[in-house]
Amino acid sequence: MQPNEALAKEHEFMLGKLNEFEAIINQLPKEPDLNRLKEVFRVIWDAEIHHEKEEKVFFKLLENDGKNLSVNIMKKEHRDMKKAKEVLKEVIDDGEIETIKSLLLFEGKFLIHKMRDHIMKEDEILYPAAMDLIQSEDWFKIREQFDKIGYCCSGDVTKNKIPKFEVNKGYIGDKPIDIN
Ligand SMILES: [Fe+2]
Ligand SMILES: [Fe+2]
Repeated sequence: MQPNEALAKEHEFMLGKLNEFEAIINQLPKEPDLNRLKEVFRVIWDAEIHHEKEEKVFFKLLENDGKNLSVNIMKKEHRDMKKAKEVLKEVIDDGEIETIKSLLLFEGKFLIHKMRDHIMKEDEILYPAAMDLIQSEDWFKIREQFDKIGYCCSGDVTKNKIPKFEVNKGYIGDKPIDIN
C-alpha cells in the first residue's frame, strides 16, 4: 500500500460513514436514535486525525513545491468542516432532540456535501500531485509520521483496520521501489 492509498482508504471509510449519517438525516422528521447518531458522528469527528496526516505530511510536500494556493484552500475546508462538526458535537452532546433535528438539516447536510466534495478533490487532484513529489527514500519518514499521528475512521477498532503501507515493497507510479 502506498502512502496515498493509506489516506484514500480512510476516505472510503469516511464516505461510508457519511452515507450512514445522511440516512439518519433523511429519516427526519422521524426522531433519530441518539445512540446510533452518536456512534456514527464520532467516526466522522475522528476525520481530524486524517486531516492532521494530510496537513503535516502530504500538504507540506505540496507547499514545499510552491503549490500554496491549493493547499490553503484545502486547509480552509478542513477548518470549515471542523467548525460544522463542533456545532453538531455540542448539540448532540447536549441531547436536546429538537435542536439536534434542526441542526442536522443545516450543519449536517452542509458537512456531508463539503466532505464529499473535499474528498473527491483530494483523490483526483491533490494526492496524485503529492505522489509525484515523493521520492522512494521519503517513504520511511512518511510511514513514521503517519504511524505517530494514527489512523481513522473505520469505527471502534479503527486503528488496526487501515493496512499500513509497506515501505520496502512499494511502487512509485509503475516503478517498483526497494529501500532496504
Ligand atoms: Fe483533507
Ligand atoms: Fe482527505
